[in-house]
Amino acid sequence: MDRELSVERPELREKLLSIARLQYAVHPGIITPDESGKISPQRLFKNPDSFHVLELGAGFGELCVEYMRSNPDHEYTAFEIKWDRIRNLLKHADADRLHPRVVPVDFDWFFESMLPAHSFDRIIIYFPDPWPKRRHWKHRLIHKGFPDRLSPIMRPGADIYLATDYGPYARRMLSAFRKSALKPAFPFPHYVRENPLPTRTHFEKLMSQKRKPYFMVWKNE
Ligand SMILES: C[S@@+](CC[C@H](N)C(=O)[O-])C[C@H]1O[C@@H](n2cnc3c(N)ncnc32)[C@H](O)[C@@H]1O
Repeated sequence: MDRELSVERPELREKLLSIARLQYAVHPGIITPDESGKISPQRLFKNPDSFHVLELGAGFGELCVEYMRSNPDHEYTAFEIKWDRIRNLLKHADADRLHPRVVPVDFDWFFESMLPAHSFDRIIIYFPDPWPKRRHWKHRLIHKGFPDRLSPIMRPGADIYLATDYGPYARRMLSAFRKSALKPAFPFPHYVRENPLPTRTHFEKLMSQKRKPYFMVWKNE
């Protein structure tokens, strides 16, 4: 999917929206957009004033579950497209009586217009698919214009946590965020090699057998 297409062609947007609205599973934590393509703050957050976290590509959900255990006052929204991973996330969340919101929608489509404006204090994107082949680069989530897609949903003071094990993608992330209005939390070269969050995700464990990942944090000051 070329992400520009979904924005520029209304008939395609309609089609994608009808797919995004399909409910494959019934669980109170699963949230899909309404007919206008939006998810209202009331459906996403119990408390509009609490600390709101958004994770894009939550995988099996280890980070989500451990984060919610350690931060019971934070509210957590996770985008994930694969149902086996969503099931795993919700199974562990239910066992711990945690209540993340899971949006089972392809985040390439229009997550920024789907989500309530200026509503997230933290965005986490850990180990997004690196798409190493040049002809697949267009599928990468993070590219030059990506920080601008995040700005409309971030609150003032919000931060963004990023991780990748793939050097060329790390350089692409650094270049995109250095050109943005967001400020690096770490001094030059703006990344660290140890995870600043306490949880090691499935993909961090898998990838770091081969090479040490890069971690970045950017702030909306
Ligand atoms: C490499 S995994 C990383 C998962 C997790 N963040 C971790 O560190 O273990 C990338 C995850 O993003 C999900 N994903 C990839 N593209 C997606 C998309 N367009 N929309 C929603 N989820 C997506 C994949 O299904 C996968 O679970």
